[in-house]
Amino acid sequence: METENIYPITMMTREDKEQLLNQRGMMVWFTGLSGSGKSTIALGVERELHRRGLLCRILDGDNIRTGINAGLGFSAEDRRENIRRIAEVGKLFVDTGIITLAAFVSPTNEYRQLARNIIGAKDFFEVYVSTPLEECERRDVKGLYARARRGEVKNFTGISSPFEAPEHPNLDIDTSRQPLETSVNQVVELIIDSSKEKV
Ligand code: ADX
Repeated sequence: METENIYPITMMTREDKEQLLNQRGMMVWFTGLSGSGKSTIALGVERELHRRGLLCRILDGDNIRTGINAGLGFSAEDRRENIRRIAEVGKLFVDTGIITLAAFVSPTNEYRQLARNIIGAKDFFEVYVSTPLEECERRDVKGLYARARRGEVKNFTGISSPFEAPEHPNLDIDTSRQPLETSVNQVVELIIDSSKEKV
């Protein structure tokens, strides 16, 4: 094998990495109420893209709020810091050419704008999982809605803390109105279409 002379050393670029992976790095940001289906859709998208030979990284409460953001709660300042750190970490993945799926409530336009600014608008795609509160509360996977109703959990989004719907999401998905497979396919399509756009 011919060895390429790597000296003098220059930095490997995002483009180098995208060529290596044969994909475009991007951030797909899922926003919506707790229990709306954000992480479930992201898991399905990751599996389907993996099947097609595309590399993804999911960021969600399970790996962020238990790890780097373990010290943060749900006050406005902590949520903002939560989102800021996620966006900074996400940017590193995007710059490595990885399709990054972030699933966080991110309840205000301000937080989502912050994430968009950090990542860069051209790499940022917003998916609003608009499953209504009644359905999220009916599911109550973690029992947190019941606790929030009893006043045991403070500042709970949708109950005692506001959620602002995004104004111009790239996709709006209500998981109470369509099967999971349809939602997964819609996001996969968005990613494939956006990958073809010239950056
Ligand atoms: S965010 O508002 O800062 O974006 P994030 O998505 O990280 O929130 O975490 C939301 C998850 O934390 C919810 O799905 C729920 O399981 C849990 N949680 C605990 N307390 C709260 C609360 N007060 N409001 C919303 N979610 C909460």
